[in-house]
Amino acid sequence: MKRIILFLTLLLVFFTGYYIFLKDRSLNQHYILKLEDENNISYDKIVNTRGAYITSMCYTKTSDTLTGPISNPCYSCHTKGKVPNYYNDTNLQEEYNFPEEVMKNPFTNLFTDRSAKVAVINDNTILEYVRESNYFNSHGEILLSMELPKVWKGYRPDCYFNFDEEGFDQDKEGEYTGWRAFRYYPFLGTFWPTNGSTDDVLIRLDTLFRQDENNTFDKEVYRLNLAIVEALVKQKEIAFDLTVDETFYGVDINANGVMDTANTISPHITSYVGLAKLFLKEEKVHLTAGLFPENTEFLHSVRYLDWSDKKDHVGLSSRMKELRYARKYRWKSYGEIQRAAESELWEAQSLDSSEAQIALFRGNYEEGLRNEIGWVYQGFIEDKAGKLRPQTHEETISCMGCHSHLGATTDSTFAFARKFEGVEKDQKEYGWNHWSQKGFKGIKEPRVEYKDHGMQYEYSFYLQNNHSGNEFRNNDEVEAKFFDSNGSIKEKRITELHSDISLLLLPSKARALELNKAYKVLVEEQSYIYGRDANIKAMVNVYRELREGSKTGIEKPIVRP
Ligand code: HEC
Ligand code: HEC
Repeated sequence: MKRIILFLTLLLVFFTGYYIFLKDRSLNQHYILKLEDENNISYDKIVNTRGAYITSMCYTKTSDTLTGPISNPCYSCHTKGKVPNYYNDTNLQEEYNFPEEVMKNPFTNLFTDRSAKVAVINDNTILEYVRESNYFNSHGEILLSMELPKVWKGYRPDCYFNFDEEGFDQDKEGEYTGWRAFRYYPFLGTFWPTNGSTDDVLIRLDTLFRQDENNTFDKEVYRLNLAIVEALVKQKEIAFDLTVDETFYGVDINANGVMDTANTISPHITSYVGLAKLFLKEEKVHLTAGLFPENTEFLHSVRYLDWSDKKDHVGLSSRMKELRYARKYRWKSYGEIQRAAESELWEAQSLDSSEAQIALFRGNYEEGLRNEIGWVYQGFIEDKAGKLRPQTHEETISCMGCHSHLGATTDSTFAFARKFEGVEKDQKEYGWNHWSQKGFKGIKEPRVEYKDHGMQYEYSFYLQNNHSGNEFRNNDEVEAKFFDSNGSIKEKRITELHSDISLLLLPSKARALELNKAYKVLVEEQSYIYGRDANIKAMVNVYRELREGSKTGIEKPIVRP
């Protein structure tokens, strides 16, 4: 009898569990089906099977005319990686050798003329639109995290964009969420606000990096671990704003061989501090130059261009175009990363095209897509009505090329290696703030080294070599500001740029509103898979189709040392 009761109980538990599972799954499916229906999109279907991870910028014509000067916008991405980035895709600067299936440019939105649709949107309408938050409701609650199905294997937004003076995010109760904002030199070209979007980047280390050895949250431990990660990832010494007693943490922070006090963090440091130090000893977390520890997360919101009369310049809008997320889900050693770099290429070449694409990035729209070196990526984007929705499988594939196959990245990422290094809170170049706290005004131009060119002002060098302010050479405002009518660079402007990057990065109000309107048209179309660039007119300097063997005319690629 007892056995029968036990058996029946187990049966009941099983079926209840199964029922709940089915119900959750159907809620999940219901959510996705509704989005598909409302937006006329498909979450699973992939149209551009071979090229969804390639970017629209790759199809740029490097010259306006057959005899004109050659522009090189390609070197920003296609360059020699710094170890442990084993990619060297410098050769892509020279030849348009796309896979056969995408010799025809799949990003057809580049050729759409949106002038008429842009013209009927008035300035106040667009300003109102971008100023309305699609991230918070009126109670300050995060809309997406309430709307996503209860069972959701991917990221559920949990950042409040509510920062203390050191960039730490706090929720509505004043608890630290672990997210910390930082300021960085925006990546070349497309990522400059003058080309369409503002953005921000935040980092979060795993909980154990925020705790002392007794498992208690400790802000100083967290600040130190973030600075340690910065020194490791940048592979350079990083200043710290406090003098640290090394004996207190039991770590030789400046790696000078003695336990003394330190106010710099050496890239040769061999331990984290606090609880992470204990985990490192047990090999439950790792520490290596050039790499983030496991479970590092990044958040990146891409926004419209808002205009502030008070500040008299462009800034972040409340509305998000996209919310992008990444997490290092698994540790990979140098050897594994190197093998991945070599084998991915091999894999892509040996399989037939659609299989190759799928083989490269495992995952789906719910969990995000994984690259071969331990990171998972996921994004949310505006639906037709301007609400954020998860990106489809194909939309998510678009993240993966930039975040895994380029010489330009640092452990798959961009911004952290470009973080400002000022340590005093009142300094202009203080790195640990959100853009809403301090902007671009008065920030000096960064300098970087290139092979055969030595140290160069990074943005000026780009203008000189690209003859324009973006890949497509359709930013008339930057061209008028920095070039004279016969295309020569205005030296006086360049000198001014050295001491204030906002001169280049920020568009005028008129340009900002136009770009916002053009992107809004794209949102209504939900046609992101055909290109997300905010162009108003059809682009001229872009190929619609390429013949095999077409050269760019770039004879001396520009490469990192
Ligand atoms: C913003 C970054 C970026 C810029 C700028 C850029 N590319 Fe790319 N390119 C990519 C990404 C991402 C991929 C897909 C990953 C890969 O294959 O490297 C790619 C792929 C390619 C490919 C196909 C390689 C393959 O095997 O699939 C070619 C060819 C190419 N780019 C040429 C160019 C040229 C020429 C330029 C300049 C006119 C350029 N790219 C500018 C990011 C960029
Ligand atoms: C054209 C190349 C490109 C594509 C495509 C792209 N990203 Fe990025 N991503 C960047 C750059 C460059 C930055 C740094 C931002 C800046 O400099 O303004 C960045 C920053 C980020 C960050 C912050 C951490 C870091 O790498 O700096 C996350 C997270 C991120 N992207 C996720 C995504 C997701 C998710 C997608 C797809 C929806 C995506 N990205 C598509 C180039 C790209």
